[in-house]
Amino acid sequence: MTVLYAVIGGSGIYSLGDGFVLERSEKKETPFGHTSAEIQRGRWHRHEMVFLPRHGEKHQIPPHAINYRANLWALQSIGVTHIIAVNAVGGITANLPPLTLAIPDQIIDYTSGRAHTFFEGDQQSVEHIDFTLPYSTTLRDIVITASKVANMDLVTTGTYGCTNGPRLESAAEIRKMSHDGCNMIGMTGMPEAALARELSIEYVSIALVVNWCAGIEDSALDMDQIRQVLAQGVDSVKRLIRGSLELARQ
Ligand code: HPA
Repeated sequence: MTVLYAVIGGSGIYSLGDGFVLERSEKKETPFGHTSAEIQRGRWHRHEMVFLPRHGEKHQIPPHAINYRANLWALQSIGVTHIIAVNAVGGITANLPPLTLAIPDQIIDYTSGRAHTFFEGDQQSVEHIDFTLPYSTTLRDIVITASKVANMDLVTTGTYGCTNGPRLESAAEIRKMSHDGCNMIGMTGMPEAALARELSIEYVSIALVVNWCAGIEDSALDMDQIRQVLAQGVDSVKRLIRGSLELARQ
């Protein structure tokens, strides 16, 4: 099978930037509607690549309104087999201060009202996926090894809690999710990871911590500060993606 990698960019990542040579940009209609943006195909540092900004080119689509099914369906329809997703998160546990990069290994879904499956009951039989390990072990190993090769700090485990957004959480909600075992909270991890599994696409998330979650520190959350941290962290995310692709192609 031909391997084709896609990067799904989250907040702060609307292009792959320097080194990405765009060959084609295609709008994709799917049975579930259209994708968040045109799907960009091209080469990034010698590798054939696909890029899709999850929130649209101008960050105009909030997390709960993203058409996750269209995005995943369209990526598979052009041959994508592996996805490196980027997710901005808030950190709960002490090992996840702002600017940390983490590769979650577990996920808890707190979202509601999102179209979260391709298996709507119109198949011959009822379909269930195994989701014991929600992220691809192979891709996680590649990204973890890439961080070592590049001498980058990376937190290599963690449970990602996915909230509906777009508002941030109350301090009590964060306390509850912390008791549940969450280490970090974001708004876009689900249903994306599960839809990828339904399509048998290998999927990993690189989480960039952009703030302490609500109530971890005494002060209220400051959106300008979050934007600044995001802007600071984007280069290291891209470096880690590039390193992972280099390894994957060896
Ligand atoms: N909560 C949920 N999603 C987020 C956060 C947060 O604190 N920071 C970035 N995305």
